[in-house]
Amino acid sequence: MQASPPLVNGGAAEEDGWSRARLCYTTAAMSIDPAVARELLTFYAEAGVSDLVGETPVDRLAAGFDEPRAATPPADPSSSAPPQERATEIPTRTLRRRDAPASPPIAPKPGGPVPVAAEAATLAAREAAASAGSLEELRALLEAFDGCALKLTAKRLVFADGNPQARLMFVGEAPGREEDIEGLPFVGPSGQLLDRMLASIGLDRTSVYIANIIPWRPPGNRDPSLQETQICLPFIRRQIELVAPDVLVTLGKPSTAALLGIADGIRRTRGRWMTYQAGERDIRAMATFHPAYLLRQPLEKRHSWRDLLAIKKALES
Ligand code: URA
Repeated sequence: MQASPPLVNGGAAEEDGWSRARLCYTTAAMSIDPAVARELLTFYAEAGVSDLVGETPVDRLAAGFDEPRAATPPADPSSSAPPQERATEIPTRTLRRRDAPASPPIAPKPGGPVPVAAEAATLAAREAAASAGSLEELRALLEAFDGCALKLTAKRLVFADGNPQARLMFVGEAPGREEDIEGLPFVGPSGQLLDRMLASIGLDRTSVYIANIIPWRPPGNRDPSLQETQICLPFIRRQIELVAPDVLVTLGKPSTAALLGIADGIRRTRGRWMTYQAGERDIRAMATFHPAYLLRQPLEKRHSWRDLLAIKKALES
Protein backbone atom coordinates (compact mmCIF):
# COMPACT_ATOMS: atom_id res chain seq x y z
CA MET A 1 0.00 0.00 0.00
CA GLN A 2 1.38 3.33 -1.11
CA ALA A 3 1.66 6.28 1.28
CA SER A 4 -0.17 9.39 0.09
CA PRO A 5 2.03 11.96 -1.57
CA PRO A 6 2.40 15.38 0.05
CA LEU A 7 0.16 18.12 -1.28
CA VAL A 8 1.97 20.28 -3.80
CA ASN A 9 -0.61 23.04 -4.00
CA GLY A 10 -3.17 24.56 -1.71
CA GLY A 11 -6.61 26.12 -2.26
CA ALA A 12 -8.29 25.82 -5.61
CA ALA A 13 -5.34 24.16 -7.30
CA GLU A 14 -5.17 21.51 -4.62
CA GLU A 15 -7.07 18.82 -6.46
CA ASP A 16 -5.05 19.15 -9.63
CA GLY A 17 -1.76 19.34 -7.74
CA TRP A 18 -2.75 16.34 -5.71
CA SER A 19 -3.59 14.15 -8.67
CA ARG A 20 -0.50 15.23 -10.60
CA ALA A 21 1.70 14.62 -7.59
CA ARG A 22 0.12 11.20 -7.08
CA LEU A 23 0.64 10.31 -10.76
CA CYS A 24 4.34 11.24 -10.67
CA TYR A 25 4.79 9.60 -7.33
CA THR A 26 3.08 6.37 -8.39
CA THR A 27 4.81 6.22 -11.75
CA ALA A 28 8.18 6.84 -10.16
CA ALA A 29 7.53 4.27 -7.44
CA MET A 30 6.46 1.67 -9.97
CA SER A 31 9.13 2.07 -12.59
CA ILE A 32 12.07 4.16 -11.53
CA ASP A 33 13.98 4.91 -8.41
CA PRO A 34 13.67 8.64 -7.45
CA ALA A 35 17.45 8.96 -7.30
CA VAL A 36 17.74 7.50 -10.80
CA ALA A 37 14.95 9.80 -11.98
CA ARG A 38 16.81 12.80 -10.52
CA GLU A 39 20.00 11.72 -12.28
CA LEU A 40 18.13 11.28 -15.53
CA LEU A 41 16.57 14.74 -15.26
CA THR A 42 19.97 16.23 -14.47
CA PHE A 43 21.37 14.48 -17.53
CA TYR A 44 18.59 15.91 -19.71
CA ALA A 45 19.13 19.40 -18.31
CA GLU A 46 22.86 19.19 -18.97
CA ALA A 47 22.22 17.89 -22.46
CA GLY A 48 20.31 21.06 -23.23
CA VAL A 49 16.79 19.77 -22.65
CA SER A 50 15.68 22.81 -20.76
CA ASP A 51 12.05 23.01 -21.81
CA LEU A 52 9.10 20.71 -22.17
CA VAL A 53 7.35 20.83 -25.50
CA GLY A 54 4.19 18.97 -24.58
CA GLU A 55 2.09 17.71 -21.72
CA THR A 56 2.21 14.10 -22.90
CA PRO A 57 5.46 12.13 -23.27
CA VAL A 58 6.09 10.68 -26.74
CA ASP A 59 7.62 7.21 -27.08
CA ARG A 60 9.88 7.72 -30.06
CA LEU A 61 11.04 4.12 -29.89
CA ALA A 62 7.56 2.76 -30.42
CA ALA A 63 7.06 0.90 -33.69
CA GLY A 64 5.44 3.03 -36.33
CA PHE A 65 6.44 6.34 -34.78
CA ASP A 66 6.73 8.73 -37.66
CA GLU A 67 9.75 10.95 -36.94
CA PRO A 68 9.22 14.46 -38.34
CA ARG A 69 11.92 15.12 -40.88
CA ALA A 70 14.32 18.02 -40.37
CA ALA A 71 14.23 20.67 -43.06
CA THR A 72 16.96 20.11 -45.68
CA PRO A 73 18.97 23.26 -46.35
CA PRO A 74 18.49 24.33 -49.94
CA ALA A 75 21.57 24.51 -52.18
CA ASP A 76 23.39 27.82 -52.12
CA PRO A 77 22.05 29.51 -55.24
CA SER A 78 25.14 31.71 -55.51
CA SER A 79 27.37 28.69 -56.15
CA SER A 80 27.48 26.23 -58.97
CA ALA A 81 29.93 23.97 -57.17
CA PRO A 82 28.71 20.78 -55.51
CA PRO A 83 28.02 21.21 -51.77
CA GLN A 84 31.26 19.62 -50.57
CA GLU A 85 33.31 22.07 -52.67
CA ARG A 86 31.50 25.18 -51.53
CA ALA A 87 32.99 27.84 -49.25
CA THR A 88 36.24 26.94 -47.53
CA GLU A 89 35.05 26.09 -44.06
CA ILE A 90 36.69 27.74 -41.08
CA PRO A 91 37.68 24.87 -38.72
CA THR A 92 34.81 24.00 -36.45
CA ARG A 93 36.75 22.90 -33.38
CA THR A 94 34.22 22.89 -30.60
CA LEU A 95 35.58 22.87 -27.08
CA ARG A 96 33.12 22.15 -24.36
CA ARG A 97 32.65 24.72 -21.60
CA ARG A 98 33.99 23.05 -18.51
CA ASP A 99 30.54 22.49 -17.05
CA ALA A 100 28.78 21.79 -20.32
CA PRO A 101 27.98 18.43 -21.89
CA ALA A 102 28.51 17.49 -25.53
CA SER A 103 26.23 19.43 -27.78
CA PRO A 104 23.07 17.89 -29.14
CA PRO A 105 22.70 18.20 -32.91
CA ILE A 106 21.25 21.44 -34.17
CA ALA A 107 17.84 20.91 -35.70
CA PRO A 108 16.45 23.82 -37.67
CA LYS A 109 13.06 25.07 -36.49
CA PRO A 110 10.52 23.90 -39.06
CA GLY A 111 9.85 26.70 -41.48
CA GLY A 112 12.61 28.80 -39.94
CA PRO A 113 15.74 30.22 -41.53
CA VAL A 114 18.47 27.90 -42.80
CA PRO A 115 22.19 28.55 -42.16
CA VAL A 116 24.16 29.65 -45.21
CA ALA A 117 27.79 28.65 -45.86
CA ALA A 118 30.18 29.95 -43.21
CA GLU A 119 32.27 32.08 -45.50
CA ALA A 120 29.28 33.74 -47.07
CA ALA A 121 27.82 34.21 -43.60
CA THR A 122 30.99 35.90 -42.33
CA LEU A 123 30.99 38.24 -45.32
CA ALA A 124 27.32 39.00 -44.83
CA ALA A 125 27.95 39.66 -41.13
CA ARG A 126 30.76 42.08 -41.95
CA GLU A 127 28.63 43.97 -44.43
CA ALA A 128 25.61 44.11 -42.15
CA ALA A 129 27.60 45.17 -39.09
CA ALA A 130 29.47 47.88 -41.01
CA SER A 131 26.20 49.31 -42.25
CA ALA A 132 24.79 49.86 -38.74
CA GLY A 133 24.81 53.53 -37.82
CA SER A 134 23.44 53.02 -34.31
CA LEU A 135 22.99 50.32 -31.70
CA GLU A 136 19.29 50.11 -32.55
CA GLU A 137 20.15 49.48 -36.19
CA LEU A 138 22.74 46.90 -35.20
CA ARG A 139 20.21 45.06 -33.06
CA ALA A 140 17.69 45.08 -35.91
CA LEU A 141 20.33 43.79 -38.34
CA LEU A 142 21.22 40.98 -35.94
CA GLU A 143 17.56 40.10 -35.48
CA ALA A 144 17.29 39.74 -39.26
CA PHE A 145 20.61 37.92 -39.70
CA ASP A 146 20.28 34.24 -40.62
CA GLY A 147 23.95 33.37 -41.03
CA CYS A 148 24.54 31.83 -37.63
CA ALA A 149 22.94 28.46 -36.95
CA LEU A 150 22.73 29.18 -33.22
CA LYS A 151 19.80 31.44 -33.98
CA LEU A 152 17.85 28.33 -34.97
CA THR A 153 18.02 26.77 -31.53
CA ALA A 154 18.05 29.87 -29.34
CA LYS A 155 14.83 31.33 -28.03
CA ARG A 156 15.89 34.95 -28.26
CA LEU A 157 18.58 37.31 -29.35
CA VAL A 158 20.66 38.42 -26.37
CA PHE A 159 21.95 41.77 -27.55
CA ALA A 160 23.06 43.80 -24.53
CA ASP A 161 22.20 45.22 -21.16
CA GLY A 162 23.20 48.37 -19.36
CA ASN A 163 23.90 51.90 -20.44
CA PRO A 164 25.02 52.53 -24.05
CA GLN A 165 26.63 55.76 -22.83
CA ALA A 166 28.72 53.94 -20.24
CA ARG A 167 32.48 54.42 -20.11
CA LEU A 168 32.98 50.78 -19.16
CA MET A 169 31.97 47.84 -21.34
CA PHE A 170 32.13 44.13 -20.49
CA VAL A 171 32.09 41.38 -23.10
CA GLY A 172 31.36 37.78 -22.15
CA GLU A 173 31.25 34.68 -24.27
CA ALA A 174 27.69 33.56 -25.00
CA PRO A 175 24.31 33.52 -23.26
CA GLY A 176 23.22 30.62 -21.10
CA ARG A 177 19.75 29.31 -20.28
CA GLU A 178 18.53 32.24 -18.18
CA GLU A 179 19.87 34.79 -20.64
CA ASP A 180 18.15 32.96 -23.50
CA ILE A 181 14.85 33.13 -21.65
CA GLU A 182 15.12 36.78 -20.66
CA GLY A 183 16.93 38.07 -23.74
CA LEU A 184 19.50 39.85 -21.54
CA PRO A 185 23.16 39.01 -20.91
CA PHE A 186 24.44 37.88 -17.53
CA VAL A 187 21.19 37.40 -15.66
CA GLY A 188 21.93 33.87 -14.39
CA PRO A 189 24.21 32.88 -11.51
CA SER A 190 27.35 34.30 -13.13
CA GLY A 191 25.49 37.52 -13.90
CA GLN A 192 24.50 37.83 -10.26
CA LEU A 193 28.15 37.50 -9.31
CA LEU A 194 29.04 40.09 -11.94
CA ASP A 195 26.52 42.46 -10.35
CA ARG A 196 28.17 41.94 -6.96
CA MET A 197 31.60 42.54 -8.49
CA LEU A 198 30.35 45.80 -10.01
CA ALA A 199 28.80 46.85 -6.71
CA SER A 200 32.15 46.30 -4.99
CA ILE A 201 33.57 49.21 -7.00
CA GLY A 202 30.44 51.33 -6.79
CA LEU A 203 28.99 50.45 -10.19
CA ASP A 204 25.83 48.82 -11.46
CA ARG A 205 24.10 48.18 -14.77
CA THR A 206 23.23 51.86 -15.16
CA SER A 207 26.93 52.69 -15.32
CA VAL A 208 28.24 49.84 -17.48
CA TYR A 209 27.32 48.21 -20.81
CA ILE A 210 27.35 44.41 -21.12
CA ALA A 211 27.32 42.21 -24.23
CA ASN A 212 28.64 38.89 -25.48
CA ILE A 213 30.74 37.73 -28.43
CA ILE A 214 27.87 35.42 -29.42
CA PRO A 215 24.35 36.79 -29.08
CA TRP A 216 22.51 33.45 -29.21
CA ARG A 217 22.66 30.64 -26.67
CA PRO A 218 24.59 27.59 -27.89
CA PRO A 219 22.47 24.46 -27.27
CA GLY A 220 23.15 22.85 -23.93
CA ASN A 221 25.54 25.73 -23.11
CA ARG A 222 28.24 24.14 -25.22
CA ASP A 223 31.18 26.28 -26.28
CA PRO A 224 30.54 28.20 -29.48
CA SER A 225 32.58 26.83 -32.39
CA LEU A 226 35.31 28.89 -34.03
CA GLN A 227 33.06 29.20 -37.05
CA GLU A 228 30.18 30.59 -34.98
CA THR A 229 32.57 32.99 -33.28
CA GLN A 230 33.98 34.10 -36.63
CA ILE A 231 30.51 34.79 -37.97
CA CYS A 232 29.38 36.79 -34.91
CA LEU A 233 32.60 38.74 -34.45
CA PRO A 234 31.85 41.63 -36.83
CA PHE A 235 28.67 42.40 -34.87
CA ILE A 236 30.33 42.65 -31.44
CA ARG A 237 33.18 44.65 -32.96
CA ARG A 238 30.69 47.14 -34.38
CA GLN A 239 28.84 47.15 -31.07
CA ILE A 240 32.05 48.16 -29.29
CA GLU A 241 32.68 50.88 -31.88
CA LEU A 242 29.19 52.27 -31.42
CA VAL A 243 29.35 52.23 -27.61
CA ALA A 244 32.89 53.62 -27.73
CA PRO A 245 33.71 52.95 -24.08
CA ASP A 246 36.87 54.28 -22.43
CA VAL A 247 37.57 50.88 -20.93
CA LEU A 248 36.78 47.44 -22.38
CA VAL A 249 36.88 44.34 -20.17
CA THR A 250 36.83 40.86 -21.67
CA LEU A 251 35.44 38.18 -19.37
CA GLY A 252 37.25 34.87 -19.71
CA LYS A 253 39.53 33.35 -22.29
CA PRO A 254 37.16 32.99 -25.28
CA SER A 255 36.20 36.67 -25.45
CA THR A 256 39.81 37.66 -24.74
CA ALA A 257 41.02 35.47 -27.61
CA ALA A 258 38.30 36.70 -29.96
CA LEU A 259 38.68 40.44 -29.26
CA LEU A 260 42.25 40.89 -28.10
CA GLY A 261 43.79 38.10 -30.15
CA ILE A 262 45.49 36.53 -27.14
CA ALA A 263 45.14 32.79 -26.95
CA ASP A 264 47.20 32.39 -23.75
CA GLY A 265 45.48 31.09 -20.66
CA ILE A 266 43.42 33.69 -18.84
CA ARG A 267 45.57 33.29 -15.71
CA ARG A 268 48.50 34.72 -17.68
CA THR A 269 46.51 37.34 -19.55
CA ARG A 270 44.26 38.83 -16.89
CA GLY A 271 45.05 42.09 -15.15
CA ARG A 272 47.27 43.53 -17.92
CA TRP A 273 46.36 46.68 -19.77
CA MET A 274 46.19 46.24 -23.51
CA THR A 275 44.86 48.23 -26.42
CA TYR A 276 41.77 47.33 -28.38
CA GLN A 277 41.43 49.06 -31.69
CA ALA A 278 37.86 50.09 -32.44
CA GLY A 279 37.98 51.59 -35.91
CA GLU A 280 40.09 54.74 -35.57
CA ARG A 281 39.94 54.69 -31.80
CA ASP A 282 42.22 53.00 -29.28
CA ILE A 283 40.45 51.69 -26.20
CA ARG A 284 42.13 50.58 -22.98
CA ALA A 285 41.34 46.92 -22.54
CA MET A 286 41.82 44.35 -19.84
CA ALA A 287 40.99 40.67 -19.58
CA THR A 288 39.75 39.27 -16.32
CA PHE A 289 38.29 36.00 -15.06
CA HIS A 290 34.80 35.07 -16.19
CA PRO A 291 32.37 35.13 -13.24
CA ALA A 292 31.34 31.53 -14.05
CA TYR A 293 34.96 30.52 -13.43
CA LEU A 294 34.97 32.46 -10.17
CA LEU A 295 31.88 30.56 -9.05
CA ARG A 296 33.86 27.35 -9.52
CA GLN A 297 37.15 28.74 -8.18
CA PRO A 298 36.22 31.28 -5.48
CA LEU A 299 39.84 31.64 -4.35
CA GLU A 300 40.59 33.37 -7.65
CA LYS A 301 38.32 36.24 -6.62
CA ARG A 302 41.28 37.92 -4.97
CA HIS A 303 42.86 38.38 -8.43
CA SER A 304 39.59 39.67 -9.84
CA TRP A 305 39.41 42.15 -7.00
CA ARG A 306 42.79 43.55 -8.06
CA ASP A 307 41.55 43.81 -11.65
CA LEU A 308 38.42 45.61 -10.51
CA LEU A 309 40.46 48.12 -8.54
CA ALA A 310 42.66 48.77 -11.59
CA ILE A 311 39.54 49.26 -13.72
CA LYS A 312 38.08 51.69 -11.18
CA LYS A 313 41.33 53.65 -11.13
CA ALA A 314 41.41 53.80 -14.93
CA LEU A 315 37.88 55.21 -14.94
CA GLU A 316 38.89 57.90 -12.43
CA SER A 317 41.83 59.08 -14.50
N1 URA B 1 28.10 33.76 -19.63
C1 URA B 1 28.42 34.61 -20.61
O1 URA B 1 29.54 34.59 -21.13
N2 URA B 1 27.49 35.47 -21.00
C2 URA B 1 26.28 35.54 -20.45
O2 URA B 1 25.49 36.37 -20.88
C3 URA B 1 25.98 34.64 -19.41
C4 URA B 1 26.91 33.76 -19.02
